[in-house]
Amino acid sequence: MQIKAVSTTPLNWTGDALALGLFEGMAEITGELAALDEKLDGTIQDAIAHEEFSGKSGETAVLRIGSKNQVRKLILVGLGKSEELAIDTLRATAAAIARTVKQQSIKTLGISLPVAGENAALSTEAIAEGLLLALHQDNRFKSESEDKAAKLEAIEILGISEGDGDLAKVEAIASGVILARELVAAPPNAVTPVTLAETAEAIAREHGLSVQILEQEDCEKLGMGSFLGVARASDIPPKFIHLTYKPEGTPRRKLAIIGKGLTFDSGGLNIKGVGSGIETMKMDMGGAGATLGAAKAIAQLKPDVEIHFISAATENMISGKALHPGDILTASNGKTIEVNNTDAEGRLTLADALVYAEKLGVDAIVDLATLTGACVIALGNDIAGMWSTDESLAGEFLAAAKRSGEKFWQMPLEESYFDGLKSPIADMKNTGPRPGGSITATLFLKEFVEKTPWIHLDIAGPVWADKASGTSNEGATGFPVRTLVNWAIA
Ligand code: BES
Ligand code: MN
Ligand code: ZN
Repeated sequence: MQIKAVSTTPLNWTGDALALGLFEGMAEITGELAALDEKLDGTIQDAIAHEEFSGKSGETAVLRIGSKNQVRKLILVGLGKSEELAIDTLRATAAAIARTVKQQSIKTLGISLPVAGENAALSTEAIAEGLLLALHQDNRFKSESEDKAAKLEAIEILGISEGDGDLAKVEAIASGVILARELVAAPPNAVTPVTLAETAEAIAREHGLSVQILEQEDCEKLGMGSFLGVARASDIPPKFIHLTYKPEGTPRRKLAIIGKGLTFDSGGLNIKGVGSGIETMKMDMGGAGATLGAAKAIAQLKPDVEIHFISAATENMISGKALHPGDILTASNGKTIEVNNTDAEGRLTLADALVYAEKLGVDAIVDLATLTGACVIALGNDIAGMWSTDESLAGEFLAAAKRSGEKFWQMPLEESYFDGLKSPIADMKNTGPRPGGSITATLFLKEFVEKTPWIHLDIAGPVWADKASGTSNEGATGFPVRTLVNWAIA
């Protein structure tokens, strides 16, 4: 499927289906739209007059046109109130068009949305992004493909002046989001620490990055007792993934992105009970998935920044070798941890990954993790929690999030809550009391970052969507690849 921005206007465009964005409360259509409507036998005005379409945000109507005309079908899509139009609206509207197209049999699609003005380039990019992300459909685990969008051969975004919008950039980012989605959506018998490492190696091979996979023995030598404690009960070997992108010439700065990579989280001996969502815990590598997705996108965009992509990948399982609740582990910075709950395993794996990342001498570290149910309770499914030790880094990151249309909310690093992690026998426990559970999880992680500016993201809510909305389809969302990429290349 090919996507292009062209200067052709809807009046002159020919193809299977033409999608038109219309504002709410338009009683009469005017200007070029009226001219187009006249050519199309007044179909648009008729739909409005008969209240088949009102222009409410996200509303869609498919109208069949006589086949002697320049197009076979019109797809009307609501833009909401004209004064509320924003880049995010365009992205979501394009996604709504894509979801409608999937229900139809269309080979060529023309899209006309209001992109005029100073933001024409950003608007064009947002439209392309919404389309590519909503068109994606995962058929890997179906015996027969159900992908209707597969018929789509070409999309043209209409009325765009030459040079407005970098669609190659959008395609690179979308390919990263889609990789993250496919990694998260794949079941735990398909995505394992071993296959996750192979995916990192494939990215390195295809895009010219360097990759190092540390095996269990390598991790032992580095003293990663915290990570290896979690890995102990799995029959699949742990893999510590370190993928590196280096620009040509001297990098402007050096960054590390660390993703929690639990390819399955049973809870360990503090096993997840009935109703805990244990069957959804393939998503517990959502941080690693987004990290590799960001790597794939960044490798194509080639910014002048050095970026390390890291994940301590393993499963959290049960066996005779499993962690006992109460075991004491020693992390690679020498700190000791009383494991009072084996289900708080993500932070144990991240601890050693943070220590490793800081030793690389980077200017900033971002970790992302499906870390706590408490964060989902606090912020719901659409917003990730964000904590930072550095306000200017936090500001940079939130600006990138805004451009991406992904939602984060900055949460407090309330040091006094560390009391809840105090252990009578070790340096700390891995779990505190239930209240403020996402904050104590962050304070635990903070013990493993000495001085590098750092952001922690709790993405337990947004990695998965129960229903389609915005640019994401039902299921794995690929959150927050877009923000990571936009932050890293800024
Ligand atoms: N992977 C889970 C967190 C999670 C919950 C992710 C829901 C996605 C959706 C994490 O390892 C976990 O089990 N956290 C515990 C921590 C508790 C034992 C302190 C939790 O949130 O219940
Ligand atoms: Mn857990
Ligand atoms: Zn987990």
